[in-house]
Amino acid sequence: MLAMPSAMVSPARRLRGRLRVPGDKSISHRYALLAALAHGESRLSNYAPGADCRSTLACLQALGVAVHEQANVVHIVGRGFDGWRSPAGPLDAGNSGTSMRMLMGLLAGRTFDSTLIGDESLSRRPMRRVIEPLARMGARIDAVDGHAPITVHGVPLQGIAYDPPIPSAQVKSAVLLAGLQARGTTSVTEPAQTRDHTERAFAAFGVDVRTSRGTVSVLGGQRLTPRDLVVPGDFSSAAFWMVAAAALPGSRVVIDEVGLNPTRIGLVDVLRRYGARVHIEETSVVAGEPIGSITVEADRAGTIEIAPAEVPVLIDELPAVAALAANGGEVSVRGAAELRVKESDRIAALVAGFRALGIDADERPDGFVVRGSGAPRGGVADARGDHRMAMAFAIAALGAVRPSRVEGAEAVAISYPGFFDTLASLVARADEEPAS
Ligand code: S3P
Repeated sequence: MLAMPSAMVSPARRLRGRLRVPGDKSISHRYALLAALAHGESRLSNYAPGADCRSTLACLQALGVAVHEQANVVHIVGRGFDGWRSPAGPLDAGNSGTSMRMLMGLLAGRTFDSTLIGDESLSRRPMRRVIEPLARMGARIDAVDGHAPITVHGVPLQGIAYDPPIPSAQVKSAVLLAGLQARGTTSVTEPAQTRDHTERAFAAFGVDVRTSRGTVSVLGGQRLTPRDLVVPGDFSSAAFWMVAAAALPGSRVVIDEVGLNPTRIGLVDVLRRYGARVHIEETSVVAGEPIGSITVEADRAGTIEIAPAEVPVLIDELPAVAALAANGGEVSVRGAAELRVKESDRIAALVAGFRALGIDADERPDGFVVRGSGAPRGGVADARGDHRMAMAFAIAALGAVRPSRVEGAEAVAISYPGFFDTLASLVARADEEPAS
C-alpha cells in the first residue's frame, strides 16, 4: 500500500466477490516466537504482512535469531532459549501490544537485561497486567508508571498458578511463555475463554500443554521442535468484508482459507442474529487451527445487543460490528471497557468517527450504541492512528449518500496493508454483475 494519510470512500450499493485475507496476526506472532525458541529451522507461509508482525520479527533479529524471507515464506532458525543474545539496543515493538507483552514473558527468564519500547499508542497501553503475574514468578521488570519503556532484568523464574482478573489472551500467553522456562508448572485460569492460539501453537511445536476445566498448564524446561506451517487467513480482517456484506443488501462475499478457531468467530453468531445469511465450510485443520470458507449475504437490517459474556470471542471485531448498523438497524454493546485500552480508546474514537459521518452513535462507559436510520450523509472520520478504526469507518461510509474521507487511513498497514485495494475490487465486481 502507498503511504496514505487519508482515503476517500465512495458510496457503494453492494459488494460482491471471492477473496483471501492476509495471514492471521495473532497466530503469526506466536509461530514466530515459538520458532525462535525451537531447535532448528521453521518455515512459515502466509505470515501476516502487517507492520505488527514485522515488529516481532525485527525484535527476534535484534535478539540474535536468524530470520529471513524467501518467496513469501519466513524462515526462522531457532537455537533454543539459550540461543537468544543480549540485544545491542532497545527492542522496538512499534504499535504491537502482542509483541511487547509476549516478549516480556519470554525475556523475563533470560540471562540478560533488555528494554522494550513502542510507539506513542503502545506507550500509553497498560502493562501492569503482565508485570504483576511475571513479578510473582520472580521477574524483575521496571516500567514507567505501568507503561513502556519496559526494562526486563532476566532472572530464573518459578512457576505459579495465576487467575487473571480480566480475560486477556495476551496476559495468558505472556505467563505461559514465561512458564516455558520456569521451574515447575505454570498454570492460568481465565475468568472467560479467550483466543487459544498459544495453547494450539504450543502443541504444534511439541510442547506438552494441558487444558482442564478452564485451566491451562505447562511444565517448564521443555524442548521445542521446529515446524513448517501455513498461517490461516485472519478472521479479524475477514470481519470487515463480512460486516460490509451483511450491511449492504444484494451483497455476496466469499472468503477462502480463513481461520475458524471457535475462540475467534463470535461474529458469525452476531451476523446471523442481525439477519445475514452466513455459511461456514471447514476445509482443513493445520497445527490444530481449523481453516475454511465463509460466505455472507445480506438479508435484512436487525437490532442486536452484544452481552458482556460474548465480548472476549469478539473483542477485535467490535469496531466492525459497529459499522453493521451504519445505515439501518441497531447495535448495542456492553461489557467491553477493554476497548478503551486498545490501539486507541476505541469507544471514544468509534462514536466520534461515526457522528462525523452522520451516524447516530452514543458512548457508554463499557460500550456503545449505533442506531442506523437510512443512508448517512457521509463526512470526514479520524482513525486516530488505529488500524481497526480506519477499516470500520471505511465500511460504515459505504452506505453514505456522498463520498467520505478517512483520516489516518495509512494505519491499515498495521494488520491489512491491501485493505483499500481489496475494497475497490469488491465494489468494482459488484458494479459488473447484475443484482441477483
Ligand atoms: C490478542 C489478544 C487480544 C486482541 C489483540 C490480539 C492476541 O488482546 O485484542 O488484538 O494475539 O493474543 P487481549 O488479550 O489483551 O484482549
